[in-house]
Amino acid sequence: MAGYYLMPPVNLMGRGSLQKTGSWMEKLGGRKALIVASIGEYGDLQGSMVLEVLKVHGLEGDVFPGAGPNPTDVMVEEAVGRYFGQKCDCLIAVGGGSAMDCTKAASVSIGRIDEKSQKGEGRKDRPPFIAINTTAGTGSEATSFAVITDSANHRKITVQDWTLMPDVSINDPDLMLSMPPGLTAATGMDALSHAVEAYVSTEASLFSDGIALQAIRTIFRWLPMAVRYGDSIEAREAMCNAAFMAGVAFNNAGLGYVHALSHPISAMYGAPHGLVNAILLPVVERYNLPAAATKMATMGSVIDEATYDRYGIDHSGFRTAEKAEKVVEAMADLAKEIGITDGLSSLGVTENSIDDLSLAASKEAIGINNPRKGVLQEIRELYIQAL
Ligand SMILES: [Fe+2]
Repeated sequence: MAGYYLMPPVNLMGRGSLQKTGSWMEKLGGRKALIVASIGEYGDLQGSMVLEVLKVHGLEGDVFPGAGPNPTDVMVEEAVGRYFGQKCDCLIAVGGGSAMDCTKAASVSIGRIDEKSQKGEGRKDRPPFIAINTTAGTGSEATSFAVITDSANHRKITVQDWTLMPDVSINDPDLMLSMPPGLTAATGMDALSHAVEAYVSTEASLFSDGIALQAIRTIFRWLPMAVRYGDSIEAREAMCNAAFMAGVAFNNAGLGYVHALSHPISAMYGAPHGLVNAILLPVVERYNLPAAATKMATMGSVIDEATYDRYGIDHSGFRTAEKAEKVVEAMADLAKEIGITDGLSSLGVTENSIDDLSLAASKEAIGINNPRKGVLQEIRELYIQAL
């Protein structure tokens, strides 16, 4: 299949990576960065931490702690205004998916405004962009996707363009040590859903398969450790790598029904993305079995290898169909092992809303690469099973 593979050109991984932010900003030609962080005190702290790192190199920054959990067009405009008001020349996002998405959208507006100011003399590239990840889950630091909420119409808009890809991604496990167990579990299961959906996607390639499988192996091996022993650098570093690989995999292979069914729930109930995905993953992959049995069985071998120390299970003698079935059970077991035991009803989802949710999910473009295509009634049944 002809195509192209996308990922950031430079990806810093491991302890001490944060300290290299300044030298990479210099290499990219930046002197003053707009540092986009999450809303509130936590964002303030993370932004200040980056500012201190820049000062070592004699660089400047302005902290904008204004990226809310579901970043809106209003927040993006605020970031753009601040960028020009403070005479910044590059962008740094620090945080999870919200800070990244807000920065990606702002970078497009900044590029366009610069283009206008040049009176049509050609498009100026968006400013240099460094993405510092503080959660091991969304993979946003490695993707060219941004999800922005249209505040007037209360609608989530997914944008994808290669120009949204950060120039440098940074994954430093020291930044993840303070993540509480619940957040570690939810973001880790989001990463697993990225890797699994990319692996069984109709757009999967040899390239995406390789990194998706390695991400699945790593998550099954290390996520319970990262949840139980949050201060384990080894577990945090493994999860950094896994979430990053899962991000690259889905950026190149697409996603499926887990995300297509998950987005309407988050939009309607404000439920945490990773938690919803963790609940939906075994349900959707059981549904996908007839269309992806061989790939599921391969996944089974990888999961057996990753969990042998904990469970001592070896399915190598099983036939493909049995093995694939066990994979679905393993996904549900992993969620339970890290404390995700309830269904969608625990998040407030009721049977009355399932018709609306199903209709919205059927319109989600993100489900287009799911290996099995369902009619509205089938999507409805998936929601009911996940309640
Ligand atoms: Fe996701």
